[in-house]
Amino acid sequence: MNTPVSRSIDRCMQGVLPRTPTLEDESQLAFYETVRNFAIGEMFPRLSQQLVARADAAKLPDHGARLPLRQLRALAEPLPLSGAWKRVMRSQQQLAWDKIRSSLLANAARYEAELDAAECAHPERIHCDPQFVTPDYAKFPIHLQPGGYVGDTLAGYVFHHGTKVFYQGFNDQDELHILNAQHVRAPADGKVRRVLDVGCSIGQGTTALKQRFPAAEVWGLDVGLPLVRYAHKRAVDQGVEVHFKHGLAEDTGFPDGHFDVVLAYILFHEVPARLFDSIVTEVRRVLRPGGTFTIIDAPAANSGSDTLAAGNRFWLDFDSQYNCEPYSPAFVATDVPELLQRNGLEVLHSGAMPSFLWHTQAQKPAIK
Ligand SMILES: C[S@@+](CC[C@H](N)C(=O)[O-])C[C@H]1O[C@@H](n2cnc3c(N)ncnc32)[C@H](O)[C@@H]1O
Repeated sequence: MNTPVSRSIDRCMQGVLPRTPTLEDESQLAFYETVRNFAIGEMFPRLSQQLVARADAAKLPDHGARLPLRQLRALAEPLPLSGAWKRVMRSQQQLAWDKIRSSLLANAARYEAELDAAECAHPERIHCDPQFVTPDYAKFPIHLQPGGYVGDTLAGYVFHHGTKVFYQGFNDQDELHILNAQHVRAPADGKVRRVLDVGCSIGQGTTALKQRFPAAEVWGLDVGLPLVRYAHKRAVDQGVEVHFKHGLAEDTGFPDGHFDVVLAYILFHEVPARLFDSIVTEVRRVLRPGGTFTIIDAPAANSGSDTLAAGNRFWLDFDSQYNCEPYSPAFVATDVPELLQRNGLEVLHSGAMPSFLWHTQAQKPAIK
């Protein structure tokens, strides 16, 4: 009798969520998801309360909400829950990536073949430049994902399984991306022929935008080639006709005035602040007059992020220090409406999302 070399079996899909290669992966990731839920749902509220209690005991204003970060860290330091929470958050993240990545890599040839097959099936929907040079700033292992978004050919698969844990089961069927698409501003004249999802990652927002604007030609663009390839495979599998381009938000290569609607969902906090103006200028260039731009991201300066509860600021600080989010502090300090206005866009609305995130909608001024 032949002993199977690989333990992987075709375990199909649960709706739009792929099953992990093995049942053992699935149970282990479910365990990490439970640990994450416990850290966020049970440990974090207590830690937040303890931070506020310490701030109040020290008679600090606003329950410690406006403390400079160094003082906030010092306030948290003596709390045993602070170190324990950071350790649990970081370890569950690392363990989840390592578990799924090693299992996927054990069957790499099979997944590479899936990506190739999708490209053969619809080569006209995936657009890559063999001369593309990945900028160094995009090579960080954001959220501790080994190889990051660009340095691992299976990064798209890894990202999808890993973010299933990250989203704590609330995005298994792309629910958050569908909600985001509902918060995307449509142009006042209602004409939507082309839509761009910039920093699209594995294309969950891109397919959600196609659901929202079914008659439009919808594009996703991302700097991570493995993500773009997986996004394309996913859309082909789902029978959704969308396009993906491997490229840069700050230099998309699309013609002037090409798009009616652009979305950037949690892109900005993952790029260096020196690129913010070039990205907005590029979005303005590719929008037609009257076209709209929606940014959905972490709460930033205009949302009063300096008055977020001490616990929430502690979490954002944890992410930048221990969860490889090197660029997020500069984004959190940014006044997003001001950024959009100084680059020639008119801000229409800025407000909280049903989640922890914030959205800002703008338009390119119509030609008078
Ligand atoms: C947090 S992920 C965004 C998630 C994605 N919008 C979604 O719907 O899930 C940030 C994405 O931005 C991409 N990115 C970072 N810098 C970029 C740039 N300069 N141009 C295009 N994409 C970029 C990363 O590769 C990554 O996929």
